[in-house]
Amino acid sequence: MRYALPMSLLLALLLGACGKSEQPASPDSAQPAEAGAAAEPQIDPVSGLKMTGDWLVVRSACTACHSGKQVTQQRGTAQQWLTMIRWMQAKQNLWQFDPPVTEEKIINYLAENYPPAESQRRALLSADLLPPNPYAATGGS
Ligand code: HEC
Repeated sequence: MRYALPMSLLLALLLGACGKSEQPASPDSAQPAEAGAAAEPQIDPVSGLKMTGDWLVVRSACTACHSGKQVTQQRGTAQQWLTMIRWMQAKQNLWQFDPPVTEEKIINYLAENYPPAESQRRALLSADLLPPNPYAATGGS
Protein backbone atom coordinates (compact mmCIF):
# COMPACT_ATOMS: atom_id res chain seq x y z
CA MET A 1 0.00 0.00 0.00
CA ARG A 2 2.93 2.32 0.75
CA TYR A 3 4.26 1.90 -2.75
CA ALA A 4 0.94 2.00 -4.50
CA LEU A 5 1.02 5.74 -5.13
CA PRO A 6 4.68 6.00 -6.21
CA MET A 7 4.13 3.06 -8.57
CA SER A 8 1.17 4.69 -10.20
CA LEU A 9 3.14 7.92 -10.49
CA LEU A 10 5.99 6.03 -12.12
CA LEU A 11 3.56 4.45 -14.54
CA ALA A 12 2.05 7.81 -15.35
CA LEU A 13 5.52 9.21 -15.99
CA LEU A 14 6.43 6.32 -18.24
CA LEU A 15 3.20 6.60 -20.14
CA GLY A 16 3.66 10.33 -20.35
CA ALA A 17 7.15 9.85 -21.70
CA CYS A 18 5.87 7.42 -24.30
CA GLY A 19 3.21 9.84 -25.33
CA LYS A 20 5.76 12.63 -25.61
CA SER A 21 8.17 10.61 -27.68
CA GLU A 22 5.52 10.42 -30.36
CA GLN A 23 4.74 14.14 -30.36
CA PRO A 24 7.98 15.58 -31.75
CA ALA A 25 7.52 13.44 -34.85
CA SER A 26 4.62 15.45 -36.17
CA PRO A 27 6.04 18.97 -35.66
CA ASP A 28 9.30 17.74 -37.19
CA SER A 29 7.62 16.37 -40.24
CA ALA A 30 5.49 19.51 -40.56
CA GLN A 31 8.46 21.84 -40.22
CA PRO A 32 9.93 21.80 -43.73
CA ALA A 33 6.59 22.71 -45.28
CA GLU A 34 5.96 25.44 -42.70
CA ALA A 35 9.44 26.87 -43.03
CA GLY A 36 9.00 27.03 -46.77
CA ALA A 37 5.68 28.80 -46.57
CA ALA A 38 6.68 31.28 -43.87
CA ALA A 39 10.24 31.88 -45.05
CA GLU A 40 11.02 35.53 -44.37
CA PRO A 41 13.14 37.28 -46.98
CA GLN A 42 16.65 38.21 -45.95
CA ILE A 43 17.38 41.75 -44.88
CA ASP A 44 19.77 43.86 -46.92
CA PRO A 45 22.50 44.94 -44.47
CA VAL A 46 22.94 48.26 -46.28
CA SER A 47 19.38 49.54 -46.57
CA GLY A 48 17.51 47.30 -44.13
CA LEU A 49 15.04 46.46 -46.89
CA LYS A 50 13.65 42.97 -47.32
CA MET A 51 15.49 41.37 -50.20
CA THR A 52 12.57 40.22 -52.26
CA GLY A 53 10.83 41.21 -55.48
CA ASP A 54 11.78 44.67 -56.74
CA TRP A 55 13.74 45.60 -53.66
CA LEU A 56 16.69 46.87 -55.70
CA VAL A 57 14.44 49.36 -57.49
CA VAL A 58 13.21 50.56 -54.12
CA ARG A 59 16.71 50.73 -52.67
CA SER A 60 17.98 52.95 -55.45
CA ALA A 61 14.84 55.11 -55.45
CA CYS A 62 14.27 55.46 -51.72
CA THR A 63 17.61 55.52 -49.93
CA ALA A 64 19.30 58.36 -51.82
CA CYS A 65 18.18 61.07 -49.39
CA HIS A 66 17.52 59.26 -46.15
CA SER A 67 18.29 55.90 -44.62
CA GLY A 68 16.26 52.85 -45.47
CA LYS A 69 15.05 52.92 -41.88
CA GLN A 70 12.89 55.89 -42.78
CA VAL A 71 11.15 53.51 -45.18
CA THR A 72 11.09 50.28 -43.18
CA GLN A 73 9.76 51.90 -40.01
CA GLN A 74 6.75 53.07 -41.98
CA ARG A 75 3.68 50.97 -42.84
CA GLY A 76 0.91 51.56 -45.30
CA THR A 77 -1.46 50.44 -47.98
CA ALA A 78 -0.60 51.08 -51.62
CA GLN A 79 -2.64 54.27 -51.42
CA GLN A 80 -0.81 55.44 -48.29
CA TRP A 81 2.58 54.75 -49.83
CA LEU A 82 1.56 56.65 -52.93
CA THR A 83 0.48 59.58 -50.76
CA MET A 84 3.87 59.59 -49.01
CA ILE A 85 5.66 59.58 -52.35
CA ARG A 86 3.49 62.44 -53.64
CA TRP A 87 4.22 64.38 -50.46
CA MET A 88 7.97 63.93 -50.90
CA GLN A 89 7.66 64.92 -54.53
CA ALA A 90 5.76 68.07 -53.58
CA LYS A 91 7.78 69.06 -50.52
CA GLN A 92 11.10 67.22 -50.46
CA ASN A 93 12.40 67.41 -54.01
CA LEU A 94 11.76 63.78 -54.71
CA TRP A 95 11.91 63.34 -58.46
CA GLN A 96 9.12 61.91 -60.64
CA PHE A 97 9.26 58.20 -61.29
CA ASP A 98 8.37 56.73 -64.63
CA PRO A 99 4.79 56.09 -63.50
CA PRO A 100 3.71 52.90 -65.26
CA VAL A 101 6.81 50.91 -64.44
CA THR A 102 9.03 52.18 -61.68
CA GLU A 103 6.42 53.78 -59.49
CA GLU A 104 4.16 50.76 -59.68
CA LYS A 105 7.03 48.45 -58.75
CA ILE A 106 7.94 50.64 -55.80
CA ILE A 107 4.38 50.89 -54.53
CA ASN A 108 3.71 47.18 -54.95
CA TYR A 109 6.89 46.27 -53.14
CA LEU A 110 6.17 48.64 -50.27
CA ALA A 111 2.51 47.70 -49.84
CA GLU A 112 3.36 44.01 -49.97
CA ASN A 113 6.32 44.04 -47.60
CA TYR A 114 5.39 46.92 -45.32
CA PRO A 115 1.59 46.73 -45.11
CA PRO A 116 -0.40 48.43 -42.37
CA ALA A 117 0.43 46.68 -39.11
CA GLU A 118 -2.55 45.34 -37.26
CA SER A 119 -1.02 46.27 -33.95
CA GLN A 120 -0.41 49.84 -34.98
CA ARG A 121 -3.93 50.92 -34.43
CA ARG A 122 -6.99 48.94 -33.40
CA ALA A 123 -10.27 49.23 -35.20
CA LEU A 124 -12.85 51.55 -33.70
CA LEU A 125 -15.21 49.95 -31.21
CA SER A 126 -18.83 49.74 -32.18
CA ALA A 127 -21.21 51.86 -30.11
CA ASP A 128 -22.62 48.93 -28.13
CA LEU A 129 -19.12 48.02 -26.90
CA LEU A 130 -18.36 51.49 -25.61
CA PRO A 131 -18.88 52.51 -21.96
CA PRO A 132 -21.77 54.91 -21.32
CA ASN A 133 -20.88 58.43 -22.39
CA PRO A 134 -21.10 60.67 -19.30
CA TYR A 135 -21.38 63.75 -21.53
CA ALA A 136 -24.21 62.50 -23.68
CA ALA A 137 -27.04 65.00 -24.01
CA THR A 138 -29.74 64.07 -21.55
CA GLY A 139 -32.37 66.22 -23.16
CA GLY A 140 -32.68 68.77 -20.36
CA SER A 141 -30.93 71.66 -18.62
C1 HEC B 1 14.79 63.54 -52.92
C2 HEC B 1 15.02 62.98 -51.62
C3 HEC B 1 14.14 61.84 -51.19
C4 HEC B 1 13.97 60.65 -51.81
C5 HEC B 1 14.64 60.12 -53.07
C6 HEC B 1 13.02 59.89 -51.00
N1 HEC B 1 12.67 60.62 -49.90
FE1 HEC B 1 11.52 59.99 -48.38
N2 HEC B 1 11.81 61.75 -47.40
C7 HEC B 1 12.59 62.79 -47.87
C8 HEC B 1 12.60 63.85 -46.89
C9 HEC B 1 13.38 65.15 -47.02
C10 HEC B 1 11.80 63.41 -45.82
C11 HEC B 1 11.44 64.17 -44.56
C12 HEC B 1 12.62 64.46 -43.72
C13 HEC B 1 12.77 63.46 -42.66
O1 HEC B 1 11.80 63.17 -41.96
O2 HEC B 1 13.89 62.95 -42.52
C14 HEC B 1 11.34 62.07 -46.17
C15 HEC B 1 10.55 61.29 -45.34
C16 HEC B 1 10.13 60.01 -45.65
C17 HEC B 1 9.29 59.21 -44.82
C18 HEC B 1 8.78 59.55 -43.44
C19 HEC B 1 7.45 60.21 -43.57
C20 HEC B 1 6.84 60.46 -42.23
O3 HEC B 1 5.63 60.68 -42.20
O4 HEC B 1 7.54 60.43 -41.22
C21 HEC B 1 9.06 58.05 -45.47
C22 HEC B 1 8.23 56.86 -45.02
C23 HEC B 1 9.74 58.12 -46.73
N3 HEC B 1 10.40 59.33 -46.81
C24 HEC B 1 9.73 57.14 -47.68
C25 HEC B 1 10.36 57.22 -48.90
C26 HEC B 1 10.21 56.26 -49.97
C27 HEC B 1 9.35 55.02 -49.91
C28 HEC B 1 11.00 56.67 -50.99
C29 HEC B 1 11.14 56.03 -52.34
C30 HEC B 1 9.98 56.07 -53.17
C31 HEC B 1 11.64 57.92 -50.58
N4 HEC B 1 11.22 58.22 -49.31
C32 HEC B 1 12.54 58.64 -51.33
C33 HEC B 1 13.27 62.84 -49.06
C34 HEC B 1 13.34 61.82 -49.97
